Amino acid sequence: MLASLSELLHFAKEKKIAIGAFNVYNMEGILAVEKATETCKCPAIIQVQTASLLTTDYFLLEIALEAARKSKQTIAVHLDHCKDKNVIKNAVERGITSVMADGSELKYNENISFVSHISGLYRAASVEIEAELGRISGDEEGEMKNKLTQLMTDPEQVEEYTKKTGAHALAVCIGNVHGKYDREPKLDLERLKRIAERSEIPLVLHGASGLSENLLKSVIQHGVTKINVNTELRETFTNSWMDGLAQKHSLTEVQQATISAMTRVVVSKIRIFQGG
Ligand code: 13P
Ligand code: ZN
Ligand code: NA
Repeated sequence: MLASLSELLHFAKEKKIAIGAFNVYNMEGILAVEKATETCKCPAIIQVQTASLLTTDYFLLEIALEAARKSKQTIAVHLDHCKDKNVIKNAVERGITSVMADGSELKYNENISFVSHISGLYRAASVEIEAELGRISGDEEGEMKNKLTQLMTDPEQVEEYTKKTGAHALAVCIGNVHGKYDREPKLDLERLKRIAERSEIPLVLHGASGLSENLLKSVIQHGVTKINVNTELRETFTNSWMDGLAQKHSLTEVQQATISAMTRVVVSKIRIFQGG
């Protein structure tokens, strides 16, 4: 079943778990998430990569929505990091029900204006918005070309930011980084606690690739209900694909092996996010 972002995040809050949001670039990714929800008998979020939406002329989104609708488990389809009003508009027209309106490269007031503009445009259509306060640094395939420095989320801005933007979920920067961590990751859990005390909307942790099971479990204990995973899954795709081709397997064999390898990664993350 296709579910909304809020439905899944409220369910997670009640169960004291987090929902995994897995970035997808292609059909193999969509199938891996769908199969993993079936293995674990639990919900997940198919998180569409904005750049891939454009390279696939939005068909990626249509396939993701169809996979979610046909699934036995509840699945939300969410557009990741998007700074472009027109792309958001096109995605909404094709049926997406939640998007991350990413104003994190903007100054605080401009970030508020951008997100509140988007949330205002789609309030009547019940499209839910994830917003980012602070700035998560690092590399995401096809998304973050400007390497701006990290900016930690200021807990004192949380109440005003969430109220003025009308966002439904809040992405935080507490030392989390997109892509690889160049040293042992350190998260500011004290800061996360202060953010959680001030936020009435669910919290999102980006940059989960490279974080230990213990760190992931502690952010969930501190109230994070959505956790984004991209790099580990993308690398599984490219490694499996290249290995299969190097071994001269047929394309369909490579495809099947790759979906299975990606499914295993999604399953292992979901098990951590469920506390098991
Ligand atoms: P990683 O690539 O570090 O898993 O981050 C994922 C993410 O934040 C997607 O928005
Ligand atoms: Zn992210
Ligand atoms: Na990361």
